[in-house]
Amino acid sequence: MPNIQTRNYTPVALPASCDGYTFEARAKSARGDELILTRYRDKRFLLQVIPREKKNGKDYLIKAEKITRVSPVTILQGALRAFAKLHRLELTFSNVEPKKEGIVHEADFSILKSIEWFDTGLSYDKPLLVEVGFGSGRHLLYQAKQHPDKRIIGIEIHRPSIEQVIKQCKLQNLDNVLIADFDARIFLQLLESNKVERIFVHFPVPWDKKPHRRVISIPFIEEAIRVLAPKGTLELRTDSENYFHYSFETFNALNRYDLQIRKNHALPVSSKYEDRWKRMEKNIYDLIFMNETESDPKPKRIPLVFDRPIPFSEAKKRFENVTIKGKDHFVHFETLYEIDEKSGLIRLSMGAYEKPEHKFLLFNENRVQYFPKQTISINQNIASHNIIKEYFHV
Ligand SMILES: C[S@@+](CC[C@H](N)C(=O)[O-])C[C@H]1O[C@@H](n2cnc3c(N)ncnc32)[C@H](O)[C@@H]1O
Repeated sequence: MPNIQTRNYTPVALPASCDGYTFEARAKSARGDELILTRYRDKRFLLQVIPREKKNGKDYLIKAEKITRVSPVTILQGALRAFAKLHRLELTFSNVEPKKEGIVHEADFSILKSIEWFDTGLSYDKPLLVEVGFGSGRHLLYQAKQHPDKRIIGIEIHRPSIEQVIKQCKLQNLDNVLIADFDARIFLQLLESNKVERIFVHFPVPWDKKPHRRVISIPFIEEAIRVLAPKGTLELRTDSENYFHYSFETFNALNRYDLQIRKNHALPVSSKYEDRWKRMEKNIYDLIFMNETESDPKPKRIPLVFDRPIPFSEAKKRFENVTIKGKDHFVHFETLYEIDEKSGLIRLSMGAYEKPEHKFLLFNENRVQYFPKQTISINQNIASHNIIKEYFHV
């Protein structure tokens, strides 16, 4: 994560602009760290200023705030450079590279779509293939080249892999790839029913010590069945015998299934991971599940908004660092940041226990909204949203 460090930080009056970045406001927590509301073109995100007491005096760590970070990372690097320039900081450390020609520009990121876009903007005029956790992307790029008439959705949570694959798509002129920077365990909820031809899960992290983090699970399989067209397939490929057995048992919990098992079957493309396992002479297992059912349409979702006013002064009175738990969902109100008497931010986590969402609530005058963007209305988030409304009595 890009960051800079300095000993001399004197806040300047905001809003202020520098090199295309607008620093809109400063919000401060009781702990003393600051969030800087930052805008670059149509993107809004936060920088965080953390004061640190050190043996040889105080210094400040300034970094892109994790929840609101945007892609490409060059935008965040540019924001830190502009912030340093505006505040005339003398840096004691920086991993923010100077501007170079040839870096990926924002426009190149048009294949990286927001979750809201997948929920409502995706067109289903072409057959869909989905790859979960594409890593270095060899298989995803292969499928995209093989099937120019199909749309390939890649889901990945590792930013460097995402940026690398975006560059490759551009270099190879592939215009049929869409990328979601999202947890695959939730993502499928966003797709329409009966539309996907194949879902690839190649070499997922086995999570032997934390099995609840595995991609393959009953809810994931149920959602895969919903989005798969009849005769569509969910294809797991793994080098882990343990994961293979676990997945087989998970499929086995279904009443009825059509499952194919293969051992050491060669595919026309081999990923970096696969090459490594092959060099180590490990066995490779495929489990191919074929969907037989036509599912009901995707449930309609209501947008999660606060349609009644919540004054920041009220929110401040009620705010406590607490966790409120439901059966399959929760809300943890974490930190309050104050801009002024009428505006501020509350950092929270919410949603499903196994896949929480980290968000801010942005209070401005009497209006409140999720920041940097709305929360998608999957079931557990709807329940958490209702807890938040009740907590603030709206
Ligand atoms: C072991 S690597 C395999 C990468 C690639 N499929 C291959 O065969 O080389 C697993 C990948 O899955 C990604 N991943 C892990 N959990 C994920 C999740 N819940 N949603 C999306 N991607 C995930 C990781 O970031 C990583 O890139």
